[in-house]
Amino acid sequence: MMALSHKYILKFLGTAMSSVTGTVSIITEMCEGDLKGLLLSKMGKMVEQDISTMVEQIVNATDYMHRQEMMHRDLKPANILFNCQEKAPSWEDIDLSMITLKVADFALARQCPANEDMTLSENVGTPAYWAPEISHGHYNAKVDIYSIGVITFELFMKGIKGKRITREDHRDGNWARLQDLPHQLRRFLEVTLVENPRERSTAATLLIHPFLIKSFPLEKYTQGEELLKGVLEVTCLFQAKSSDKLDMAIDQVAVTK
Ligand SMILES: Nc1ncnc2c1ncn2[C@@H]1O[C@H](COP(=O)(O)OP(=O)(O)O)[C@@H](O)[C@H]1O
Ligand SMILES: [Mg+2]
Repeated sequence: MMALSHKYILKFLGTAMSSVTGTVSIITEMCEGDLKGLLLSKMGKMVEQDISTMVEQIVNATDYMHRQEMMHRDLKPANILFNCQEKAPSWEDIDLSMITLKVADFALARQCPANEDMTLSENVGTPAYWAPEISHGHYNAKVDIYSIGVITFELFMKGIKGKRITREDHRDGNWARLQDLPHQLRRFLEVTLVENPRERSTAATLLIHPFLIKSFPLEKYTQGEELLKGVLEVTCLFQAKSSDKLDMAIDQVAVTK
């Protein structure tokens, strides 16, 4: 965590050691709460755009971690903190479009070279958010992508089911039987809640998924549908790994069109 510096990752500020007990405390920036609290709050169903805005931030942070060859291994609502630009009287009143998420709790994170499976006997993390391969003890950073799928599904279920998510909800394609899943959200789950990690999306590819891409400020570049099509093509070519690169790709299209 000390080595990580990203807008959507909890900022590490330092450590402090107690001269009495000898325990070391980690000092971080302060947040207002975590997504688990928000899911348990009285807030009603979340709209697709708000879910997309939040998931895009988690994917951005995860893409950054994975590029640093780091896997988190415990992505879940309790480990995703938030701050909100506008103070609300209670969590139910928070304007989710103004929320900034901070991925936290790197206790289980570890180094993981890209594309390399690691043999790990530790069944770490939280079972409801586990990728299926964790129980086989042979996995890589793709486990985080599966957890992102579970979190996305749980955000959608907020206000529908009235209880927290379980493994049975997302295993064996159970989620896909739900009738009223919005189209792009369904497509996002189809590439994240994938049993085989090799067929599961990477964080870099998720960043240009239509479910997330609509939260980029494309309206800055309104020059017709042609331009938008070009942007998506070039973005794929660039394999946009961050919103900065997406901006570069958009500028490139604006110049060439
Ligand atoms: N910087 C922070 N700002 C606000 N709440 C925090 C902060 N760090 C932790 N918390 C709260 O404490 C909980 C536990 O912290 P976490 O770092 O996940 O440790 P662990 O899960 O190992 O106990 C979080 O789910 C969150 O509710
Ligand atoms: Mg935690």
